[in-house]
Amino acid sequence: MSRDRILVVDDEQSMREFLAILLKKEGFAVDTAGTVAEARAAVGRTAFDLVITDLKLPDGTGIEVLAAVREGDPDTEVVVITAFGTAESAVEAMKLGAYDYLSKPFKVGEIKLTVRKALEKSGLARENRDLRRQLEAARPDDAILGRSPPLQEVFRVLERVAPTRVTVLVYGESGTGKELVARRLHALSGRAGPFVAVNCSAIPEGLIESELFGHVKGSFTGAVSDKAGLFEEATGGTLFLDEVGELPLHLQPKLLRALQEGRIKRVGDARERPVDVRIVSATNRDLKKAVEAGTLREDLYYRLNVVAIEIPSLARRREDIPLLAQHFLLKYARAFDRPVRGIARDALEALERYDYPGNVRELENIVERAVALEAGELLTRASLPDAVVAGPEAGPPVLEPIPPEGIDLDRVLEAVERRYVTEALERTSGNRTEAARLLGISFRSIRYRLDKLERSA
Ligand SMILES: Nc1ncnc2c1ncn2[C@@H]1O[C@H](COP(=O)(O)OP(=O)(O)OP(=O)(O)O)[C@@H](O)[C@H]1O
Ligand SMILES: [Mg+2]
Repeated sequence: MSRDRILVVDDEQSMREFLAILLKKEGFAVDTAGTVAEARAAVGRTAFDLVITDLKLPDGTGIEVLAAVREGDPDTEVVVITAFGTAESAVEAMKLGAYDYLSKPFKVGEIKLTVRKALEKSGLARENRDLRRQLEAARPDDAILGRSPPLQEVFRVLERVAPTRVTVLVYGESGTGKELVARRLHALSGRAGPFVAVNCSAIPEGLIESELFGHVKGSFTGAVSDKAGLFEEATGGTLFLDEVGELPLHLQPKLLRALQEGRIKRVGDARERPVDVRIVSATNRDLKKAVEAGTLREDLYYRLNVVAIEIPSLARRREDIPLLAQHFLLKYARAFDRPVRGIARDALEALERYDYPGNVRELENIVERAVALEAGELLTRASLPDAVVAGPEAGPPVLEPIPPEGIDLDRVLEAVERRYVTEALERTSGNRTEAARLLGISFRSIRYRLDKLERSA
């Protein structure tokens, strides 16, 4: 990892030097500029992770610096420096996209905290952008995404078995992506015929046989003409038998015969017809138990299960969550025409902690809903369902570990307070009653805190 690079813009030389020394000591690479023009030149020359700029400059304002930075690299964060009594312009700068402000006189602890947070955000923006690029580079809409070892293994097996005619059973909990895998298997198979999917538990028992195998005219009430079944429809392609464990016992020998001999008989027909179909089936039940319970024939079980592909639940491969979340975010941002492009760190942390009883489908629904709710560029915690945010270890926001030299707790708490109070006021356009409600405190309390913060500013 290269060092984070910071540009300090201030017309007062003593200020520039003070900040440069302080930040260099923290391990950052620091450049300085004294005017808007110099800042523009520096930004044009070098990619910065953070720009700290004074608002009043000899040839213009920090807002112009902010605009120049935004134009150059939207992932660079900007922190503005305000003198006593210019809180309004700080709020103005934040509305225009500054990350935060530092008020003079500086408090060293506050500078360090603000800089760290701002860099974390710009780093995150870059990570988000890199992920986005990867995704945008090569991604059909039915791509199967996953970097986790178990998913990589699924990909390997898919590649190996796809070109063969072997029967594949995909098993995994609901929403893990079984159908997606079945479709990919077909796409990779090179088979020219169609992919035909049937959910064995969704068809009334009396109709399944005719659905699968077809019927001849007059074979039962309502059979007004000859009809081919799904097996014949899938000729030359793949037939996907979803929830295959639900197939009624009396039909199982017929399926077995189709699998073993490649022949089927339409309902009411005397003659058998050959069918050329690749069978992929899926289940979210333990089929061995179904065999033990006598609801699934053992010989059929072995026929279906020649190659088994297990898709683990999402909670067992959490490293896939960021990629999937970003994928769904782009999908729905595009669909709903929303500006949201990335995921805030704390929102991602909540998503990574959650258990997903509904697996990938649930993650997709959560992100879809959040994108619909989000007005800004980052998907925030506030747009996530309570169940996700309130995860098992819900607690205070994640903070940095205490550094060796220790911290000044009062200052940290004050900075946190300042952050949240400012954000609440911003979001409510300065409405104190609404801001107090957002913060879960009383009107009196917010007034008190504001007075206190102003006194210490
Ligand atoms: N690895 C993945 N990458 C991208 N999208 C995925 C992935 N896994 C699942 N999805 C998406 O999640 C949703 C659920 O997937 P799918 O329908 O394949 O699950 P399933 O296992 O068949 O679920 P069920 O058992 O409920 O039928 C789909 O929208 C699918 O596109
Ligand atoms: Mg399914």
